[in-house]
Amino acid sequence: MTLLDTLNRPLRDLRISVTDRCNFRCVYCMPKEVFGPDYQFLARDRVLTFEEIARLARIFAGLGVRKIRLTGGEPLVRKDLPTLIAMLSQIPDLDLTMTTNGALLSKFAEHLKATGLKRVTVSLDSLDDKIFKAMNDADFPVKKILEGMDAAKSAGLEPIKVNMVVKRGLNEQSILPMARFFRGKGYILRFIEYMDVGRSNGWRMDDVVPAKEIVGIVNAEMPLEPASPNYRGEVAERWRYKDGSGEIGVIASVTQPFCSGCNRARLSAEGKLYTCLFAIKGHDLRELLRGGATDEDIAQKIESVWGKRADRYSDIRSQNTLPLPKVEMSHIGG
Ligand code: GTP
Ligand code: 5AD
Ligand code: SF4
Ligand code: SF4
Repeated sequence: MTLLDTLNRPLRDLRISVTDRCNFRCVYCMPKEVFGPDYQFLARDRVLTFEEIARLARIFAGLGVRKIRLTGGEPLVRKDLPTLIAMLSQIPDLDLTMTTNGALLSKFAEHLKATGLKRVTVSLDSLDDKIFKAMNDADFPVKKILEGMDAAKSAGLEPIKVNMVVKRGLNEQSILPMARFFRGKGYILRFIEYMDVGRSNGWRMDDVVPAKEIVGIVNAEMPLEPASPNYRGEVAERWRYKDGSGEIGVIASVTQPFCSGCNRARLSAEGKLYTCLFAIKGHDLRELLRGGATDEDIAQKIESVWGKRADRYSDIRSQNTLPLPKVEMSHIGG
């Protein structure tokens, strides 16, 4: 089964946000001024149950989805997450993975592996506690994240990828230390250009460190050569260390957009389907789930949404972010 959108892009990858909550307040994602003590997170009854998520996941798999990535907010703050993993791992031929901030990984790694999670991607923006804490704004130390990564490795949740968002003036000086640290250890470090997601992070083009510049910085000390993509539609551009000590990736959504191969759909914690990270509007699937719709009805709805899809936000982004009421990253998990 292959669903194609108006630009001939198949639906292959589903990112499921299991909660809009997070134990961090990263300045580029959930700044405290917006996500403070009075912020209204989704009420429990508005969030999809594990049964509802698993049902949708099976329907999406029937429509051609081959990868499911759990995201948040922070997925591991959702209670009993391994129970959901166990349900999703029953779906055949699925790359089942998760993007996490790593804070709770030491506690959960073994259990996640045992219930069927295949691999994890961990976000880490610096090895310097001062910089990391300034970015996560939750006083969380680097050491705990590294322990979480070790636990994931011991549990066999591999390959482990590390996501580092680079923001000009904040953590550029961490590029080389991060590359040096993860090289040769079997982790795949990916540098992400700071993006204008949501409407609360105050994005400016000047804050973006272009991927070319990042590759240049690493290459000057540790020579790199380009590597071909692992699969069609891979967002990270891969670079291999010439001495064979591993690889890095750059995710250049701002300076080298990759919309033409974008096969990703996103499901928010409250059951809205988004066809772009920068979408303004989601399509309510919870209403169908709770209104007695059959699997066929839901599949038809998804087919109809995907069939009309024409999103290519990064391709057409202007120098300044568009002043649109875009969905927050913490609602659809990046
Ligand atoms: P694998 O290749 O399966 O390991 O994962 P991935 O790189 O697709 O997933 P991951 O969650 O690690 O994505 C890395 C980051 O790339 C995300 O956090 C986003 O910041 C960015 N990203 C992922 N998908 C998209 C997309 O469709 N559009 C844009 N603009 N950015 C994306
Ligand atoms: N720009 C780029 N990446 C971001 N992420 C969160 N907000 C942004 C942003 N504004 C990343 C996180 C994590 C993933 C889910 O998305 O660091 O790795
Ligand atoms: Fe939480 Fe991830 Fe957003 Fe940071 S980037 S606030 S860890 S959801
Ligand atoms: Fe896909 Fe939208 Fe990202 Fe383009 S901007 S790659 S269409 S999610």
